[in-house]
Amino acid sequence: MLRPMQPPLDGTIVVTGASSGIGRALARELAKTARRIVLVARRKERLDALADELRGVRSELVVDVEAVDLADLEATDALATRLLDSGDIDVLINNAGLGDVALYDQSDWSRIARMNRVNVDALMLLTHRLLPPMVARDRGGLLNVSSGFGLSVMPVMAAYVGSKHYVTAFTESLRIELAKTNVVVSQVCPGPVATEFEEVAGNPFGMSVPAAVTITPEHCARSAIAGFRRGKAIIVPGALMAVVTAFGRMTPRWVFRAAYRPIGAFTRKRLAAGSGS
Ligand SMILES: NC(=O)c1ccc[n+]([C@@H]2O[C@H](COP(=O)([O-])OP(=O)(O)OC[C@H]3O[C@@H](n4cnc5c(N)ncnc54)[C@H](OP(=O)(O)O)[C@@H]3O)[C@@H](O)[C@H]2O)c1
Repeated sequence: MLRPMQPPLDGTIVVTGASSGIGRALARELAKTARRIVLVARRKERLDALADELRGVRSELVVDVEAVDLADLEATDALATRLLDSGDIDVLINNAGLGDVALYDQSDWSRIARMNRVNVDALMLLTHRLLPPMVARDRGGLLNVSSGFGLSVMPVMAAYVGSKHYVTAFTESLRIELAKTNVVVSQVCPGPVATEFEEVAGNPFGMSVPAAVTITPEHCARSAIAGFRRGKAIIVPGALMAVVTAFGRMTPRWVFRAAYRPIGAFTRKRLAAGSGS
């Protein structure tokens, strides 16, 4: 194995987007080994409830809650300052994110801008602030939650797909930069996971994802942590999705263009006909 070191999952771990879905499941999984967990998201009451639950699992575990809107970069920067002032941060898990299902030319710019601030800017900023002390101590871990869409393309989600390509390329490049350090950099690229993602992203065409490829957030979190522990570069949870992704990565881009073109044409026609619900 090229990277035998392990992320310090017994230290202080920051999990963004911990109020729901994959982030909440990651926090529950990490609570088994961490010394301290900091839960970040906007919905404070949910974070408080999770913090109480986690403290009940292991009395020695310290759990802190940070109710922050990561689309607000000043607030995100202030969060980073508070985190650094609170002691060593050993692991950062950039999980918070959202999608937007729409034809790009018909999308709402305020939604797109907000999505980019959370999916890309906040992830970059938190990493930029928390990484230097990890490198200085030569101990740390960074797990970014990208997506299967960080490795592929899809019409009607162009902005989201673009944001996840950014995360994937950034994380892979950073991993190479840090290859000679003891800071482990991994990313998880899940396929469909049953969370609140679709509720937030919207589903104007009522398309449903096949149940066979959909996994639970708990499954996703267990697989993500197991892969991170092994220092894997890209973790794809779920056996079926791992196979689909592996084939996808070997498939020439022209095949995707040909296969997905009808989806773009179909959705545009449906919207033009005024039946996009
Ligand atoms: N579900 C899937 O099929 C799937 C597949 C591949 C990748 N992913 C990725 O997995 C990650 C987690 O998504 P999920 O599926 O677990 O969706 P989810 O259930 O909707 O959870 C999203 C989390 O992000 C947080 N968040 C969103 N906007 C935020 C903001 N402005 N400030 C702070 N926190 C914010 C939410 O917390 P608050 O609303 O409380 O702020 C919530 O905790 C995302 O990066 C997503 O792109 C999901």
